Amino acid sequence: MSVSFDFTGKCALVTGGASGIGRASAMAFAAAGAQVALIDLDEKGAAETVGAIKSAGGNAEYRLCDVADETQVGAMVQWVADHFGRLDIAHNNAGIEGANVPLVQWPGDDWRRLIDVNLNSVFYCLKAEIAHMQNHGGGAIINTSSVAGLIGGFHMAAYNAAKHGVIGLTKVAAMDYATQSIRVNALCPGLVDTPFIQQLPQSFRDRLDFATPMSRPGKAEEMAQAVLWLSSDAASYVTGHALVVDGGTSLGGIGTRFDDLIPA
Ligand SMILES: NC(=O)c1ccc[n+]([C@@H]2O[C@H](COP(=O)([O-])OP(=O)(O)OC[C@H]3O[C@@H](n4cnc5c(N)ncnc54)[C@H](O)[C@@H]3O)[C@@H](O)[C@H]2O)c1
Repeated sequence: MSVSFDFTGKCALVTGGASGIGRASAMAFAAAGAQVALIDLDEKGAAETVGAIKSAGGNAEYRLCDVADETQVGAMVQWVADHFGRLDIAHNNAGIEGANVPLVQWPGDDWRRLIDVNLNSVFYCLKAEIAHMQNHGGGAIINTSSVAGLIGGFHMAAYNAAKHGVIGLTKVAAMDYATQSIRVNALCPGLVDTPFIQQLPQSFRDRLDFATPMSRPGKAEEMAQAVLWLSSDAASYVTGHALVVDGGTSLGGIGTRFDDLIPA
């Protein structure tokens, strides 16, 4: 992936960096010259990402942290500040998918865990990151939401609620700190080809492609390009924005293609 941004001298924290979008974002920040603090629960994947960054000549270290645990998040952000001596950019991205059942059947425990991992974690990260940035000249924060944070979705009660919540939190944080050189934005990916969706049956994935005007899933690297732009000075007047990168999925219409039904 070619990277046209320069983050030399900056430190970027990426949660969920062991896989998928977070891995692509961490690798892109490193390729653009940033030191990367890679945060995840998955030690094997985290070590692989850091190894790939170092093999490419970049600078990264990982730390294990459950982002759903406020105490761990506070200690993690302190570690980043101590270890790298700074924190300029944070990509709060870790997330899980959860159950895929109609609302009435959503188990309460699954609902609570998903809200903890996909929403409460963003609140914990924002609190700790902003508290640091306020005293160190500001920074840029990108929270991974989803098109599911903008529109409805079948069987996705907790996921949709969490991703809508991430956009709400992003807007409030952006307003609260707009005069303190801290910009806070959200990324809203559509379908992205990562382990997150690779586990779905092919028939399911075909249906999702069909509902995407570009008729293909996005690449994690295409998400990373948007994250780097939002983090860069090129976006210096952009805050509180939910940037949709979805191949057209959220444009609406009747929600699926039907050109295959039209006789040639
Ligand atoms: N792939 C998609 O189609 C898609 C679409 C829209 C939004 N998203 C969002 O993008 C983000 C990344 O998804 P992905 O597709 O790269 O998934 P992924 O499963 O490839 O990566 C998610 C990473 O988050 C980590 N993680 C999960 N729970 C954690 C926790 N409690 N603490 C720390 N790390 C944790 C996992 O170990 C994993 O490395 C998620 O927030 C997801 O909701 C993904």
